[in-house]
Amino acid sequence: MQSPVESLLRGGSEPSKPFRAVVIDKNGDGQTVSLKDVAPDELMDGDVTVKVAWSTLNYKDGLALTGTAPVVRRFPMIPGVDFVGTVDNSSHPAWKPGDKVICNGWGLGETHLGAYAEYARVKGDWLVPLPTSLSPREAMAIGTAGYTAMLAVMALERHGLTPAQGPVLVTGAAGGVGSVAIAILARLGYTVIAATGREGEAAYLRQLGASEVIPRAELTGKVRPLAKERFAAAIDSAGSTVLANVLSMIRYGGAVAACGLAAGMDLPTSVAPFILRGVALLGIDSVMCPIEQRRIAWNRLEHEIDRLKIEAMTTEIWLADVVEAGQRIVDGQVRGRIVVRIGG
Ligand SMILES: NC(=O)c1ccc[n+]([C@@H]2O[C@H](COP(=O)([O-])OP(=O)(O)OC[C@H]3O[C@@H](n4cnc5c(N)ncnc54)[C@H](OP(=O)(O)O)[C@@H]3O)[C@@H](O)[C@H]2O)c1
Repeated sequence: MQSPVESLLRGGSEPSKPFRAVVIDKNGDGQTVSLKDVAPDELMDGDVTVKVAWSTLNYKDGLALTGTAPVVRRFPMIPGVDFVGTVDNSSHPAWKPGDKVICNGWGLGETHLGAYAEYARVKGDWLVPLPTSLSPREAMAIGTAGYTAMLAVMALERHGLTPAQGPVLVTGAAGGVGSVAIAILARLGYTVIAATGREGEAAYLRQLGASEVIPRAELTGKVRPLAKERFAAAIDSAGSTVLANVLSMIRYGGAVAACGLAAGMDLPTSVAPFILRGVALLGIDSVMCPIEQRRIAWNRLEHEIDRLKIEAMTTEIWLADVVEAGQRIVDGQVRGRIVVRIGG
């Protein structure tokens, strides 16, 4: 925690009065979630204090807000895994007051007080600059889900994937990672097949760039070691039986970028796709991803994404609405992306 004297020595101003934040606290075996005032000296250690403009609602935020999974590992906790805002105070050489910055992951909302607050104090090493042509709201409409989708595309490209190799499957298609992944892949010239559990979202998915929409049920049956080779590659948000089925359907030499667990954390597969078809399973982690990869991802998101599609997939809520929205995302009822207006 930074003392008032340290704050003065750092030459910047700190929030001088309590600020609004969503706070999760322990309550016996359960938890409480409330919107309340937090004193500035409750912020955790860090060399940059940011006035938060926008955050977003990701699946992990839903898990934290509802207590469905042990995402929060320190109480009290301010949830929220990503934000964009303006540097208020900095002793980090890279950042000065007024700089616009993005923060994704690094334990935000898990071990470090997070984004659903008017102020956040973090390590300057965690921040990337807001790309010049993105508005703060656009950056958070992309958010952790979009940045993760770009990391998945980059991993498939490193594996050697090109549009000529065939269709790319996106699971959890109508969710945040899935929606942005479709938009990115379509823009890059890939033929995209979207798998969704919500058949009513087929038109939405086609608008994002999917050439074909298949029911999730095609990926939830009994897993066979090898099935018909259907896809050159896949970006998977689901895990579990869905991922196992997807692996069995990847063409020889293809790859799956695995980034989620919406269907479960297990993976009931065999080694057959790996040793008989040379299929690669590529793990995607946005939280501890090295800063250089982040900068590349955000630079590509600035230039290689259709902003109109991002806008079309985005809805906006206020800080007071995150608890209700958190339940909806865990229930698989959120389409695309939700941005949270804080000081923006
Ligand atoms: N690795 C990382 O660093 C990283 C970063 C961000 C997110 N993630 C993970 O990626 C996943 C997606 O995140 P998100 O923010 O995009 O969440 P989201 O918006 O809730 O999207 C998840 C989607 O998965 C599908 N789904 C829901 N329940 C399912 C089930 N039981 N079986 C199969 N599919 C199901 C739904 O899409 P349809 O209705 O279209 O089927 C849902 O919209 C989450 O598991 C999240 O934790 C990981």
